[in-house]
Amino acid sequence: MTADLSDRFGPVALGAEAGRQAFRDAMACLPAPVTIVTTVDEHGAPCGFTASAVCSLSLDPPLVMVSVSRTSSCFDALAKASHFVVNVLGRDHDALATRFATSGIDRFSGGELVSPGEGLPAHLPDALASLWCANHECISAGDHVIVVGRVADAVARPGDPLVWHQRGYLTTR
Ligand SMILES: Cc1cc2nc3c(=O)[nH]c(=O)nc-3n(C[C@H](O)[C@H](O)[C@H](O)COP(=O)(O)O)c2cc1C
Repeated sequence: MTADLSDRFGPVALGAEAGRQAFRDAMACLPAPVTIVTTVDEHGAPCGFTASAVCSLSLDPPLVMVSVSRTSSCFDALAKASHFVVNVLGRDHDALATRFATSGIDRFSGGELVSPGEGLPAHLPDALASLWCANHECISAGDHVIVVGRVADAVARPGDPLVWHQRGYLTTR
């Protein structure tokens, strides 16, 4: 191990935590997918938010994970919901992604997402991919909760993805 690396691992042994800004700056270097995760709340009202902390977990059974902030207005709904949909956004969906990350507005007002029936999660028909999930497990992870979904159905379409990198959408900067 080089002197530099052992310097950096010294604090690991001591149980130190990286500074908040250093952590955020490092994670900003990690290109991330952009999705809209949708569900319904306990009254059957639609709920959805833009999420990048989404990835595949297992092939057998097919599992995906979504990390949701405990402070998110969708937190309760997603943690308690029996079903949710992960919609993977394409490069032209940046305005939609921004709307689904904006607080205090009706995110569904544009009508782009459609629900198969009242009380069922909406999906985006022109998403690059949609994954219909049953809530499999919730795992506490600091100020977030990892919601694991068992994928009941999935579709994929050709196209380029919307990518979040260095605090912006790659395609719009
Ligand atoms: C590109 C992008 C990715 C995001 N990823 C997540 C995520 O993975 N998990 C999460 O809880 N919030 C994520 N957010 C924040 C939410 O979309 C939303 O803005 C936040 O929950 C505040 O909205 P609220 O009023 O619903 O609480 C992301 C926002 C953006 C712009």
